[in-house]
Amino acid sequence: MKITIVTGSHRTQSQSKKVGNFIASKLEKELRISEVNLIDLGNQHIPEWNEGKWQNTDEWQQAWKGVSIALRESDALVAVAPEWGGMVPPKLKNFFLLCDNHELAHKPGLIVAVSASRGGAYPVVELRMGSYKNTHLVWIPDHVIVRNVETVLNDPQSVQSDDDKHIQDRLLYSLNVLCVYAESMKSIRTSDVIDLKRYSYGM
Ligand SMILES: Cc1cc2nc3c(=O)[nH]c(=O)nc-3n(C[C@H](O)[C@H](O)[C@H](O)COP(=O)(O)O)c2cc1C
Repeated sequence: MKITIVTGSHRTQSQSKKVGNFIASKLEKELRISEVNLIDLGNQHIPEWNEGKWQNTDEWQQAWKGVSIALRESDALVAVAPEWGGMVPPKLKNFFLLCDNHELAHKPGLIVAVSASRGGAYPVVELRMGSYKNTHLVWIPDHVIVRNVETVLNDPQSVQSDDDKHIQDRLLYSLNVLCVYAESMKSIRTSDVIDLKRYSYGM
């Protein structure tokens, strides 16, 4: 099974990237996922959507083709979304806008929201409301909100406080749930019910 993690901060050294690396480590070492692909939007240059995307210009061949193939090969997505101004950062919204070729269609997704303080609810609501219509991504009911992020998930090999234990347990549980969905949803994608040619865009 292959799982892609996308981390949505614009910052090169972000807490979202830290959380993404933590998740990658758990998926590989504890859940024995054979392939984990990490896309850190703070370090990987992906242009803002422009009309060239429709024409598949050289810019998009270079910047997006590899990402698109990796997503297509993945069975599930983890989206690490920092709360910025009570919103999802623009690069992460842009990422979902670019997934217009059914790369994520009928695949399960886990939202992991991140806040430096006690926020983190807004990215969950925003992603649940606005990222699935044309991608056909299916967010699973469980999501994770990592609050006071600087104090937790700093070391995948150890537990450093009660809060750290609480969020590590919760995260591991949700990753396990995601993997069960990922296995089950393979048969949905191969069933002849799904018709993405006729119904390419959601209503
Ligand atoms: C532009 C900006 C806006 C932010 N707005 C919020 C916010 O609305 N709520 C919140 O809980 N944290 C907010 N934060 C703090 C982030 O939660 C904090 O930076 C955290 O580490 C996650 O972001 P990161 O992945 O970029 O590190 C903001 C941070 C930035 C850079």
